Amino acid sequence: MTQQIKKAFVIGDPVGHSLSPKLHNYWLGQMNIHGKYEAIACPERYLATTIKKMADNGYVGGNVTIPHKEKIMMICDEVDDLAVRVGAVNTLVFEDGKIKGSNTDVEGFIQNVSRETSLADIKTALVLGAGGASRAVILGLQSESIEVTICNRTFSKAEKLAQEFGCEALDWEHRGKLLGYDLIVNTTSLGMKGEGTTNINFVGAKQSAVVTDIVYNPIHTEFLIAADAKLLKTIGGLGMLIHQAQPGFEKWFGQKPEINDELFHYLERALYRKELHSE
Ligand code: ATR
Repeated sequence: MTQQIKKAFVIGDPVGHSLSPKLHNYWLGQMNIHGKYEAIACPERYLATTIKKMADNGYVGGNVTIPHKEKIMMICDEVDDLAVRVGAVNTLVFEDGKIKGSNTDVEGFIQNVSRETSLADIKTALVLGAGGASRAVILGLQSESIEVTICNRTFSKAEKLAQEFGCEALDWEHRGKLLGYDLIVNTTSLGMKGEGTTNINFVGAKQSAVVTDIVYNPIHTEFLIAADAKLLKTIGGLGMLIHQAQPGFEKWFGQKPEINDELFHYLERALYRKELHSE
């Protein structure tokens, strides 16, 4: 008897830019699992019907990406507490006839930082941006008892988040004053291809400061390049993508996939090729 193939997906609109199929299919191949991970482009108006159809048609679950991470919460039968606090679901598991939503971005961010540096040395963090991604980063930092300051172009949004999470808000004009922060995080879309730059030169940052960007395309964002130029420790966003993917893979396919340098190199090469092709 042939074993039934286990299928998972990433759903978004658009979804062609996503590296998740490359990542999960790499793990499936490495681990000899009879599975498949597909990219599904879906406009918002068809999101509920598409998800329900997939749940009824043998898929084990999937990832949810931009712009559906918030809307999907209404479609889930269950959403775990952390995802409720983040206000977004990025991972779905179809089990017991239910659509279950969780958020692995929080863990993905923290695991990526802790892979490269000791979290015990980080007491304070400056978070640039106050969008959906920022909420996951703030929750992750607070779970490690790190004091957070939020800095955003639209100050009212920084203030609102600061109030909700009990942290400080900083005016965008002061974003370059980095005295004292142990960790500096970019969660804005600045640095992505075609977007602007944060215009931070890291003059005045502590020499021990760690700088990280959640943007992974390009791998070397201007934010990280500027920090590198001041000889600060930098951590790219690709690791967050990989670490947020690991728990979903384990739930869907029953085995924990390995995160190693070979995987990073494989995905970096894929990104470089994509960049070349989109020139
Ligand atoms: P995500 O869910 O990925 O965080 P988002 O909710 O759209 O995306 O948030 C994007 C973030 O990037 C916001 O903090 C946004 O700042 P505003 O709240 O002022 O819009 C920030 N951002 C986007 N473009 C920016 C720019 N040109 N300059 C400064 N910040 C920018």
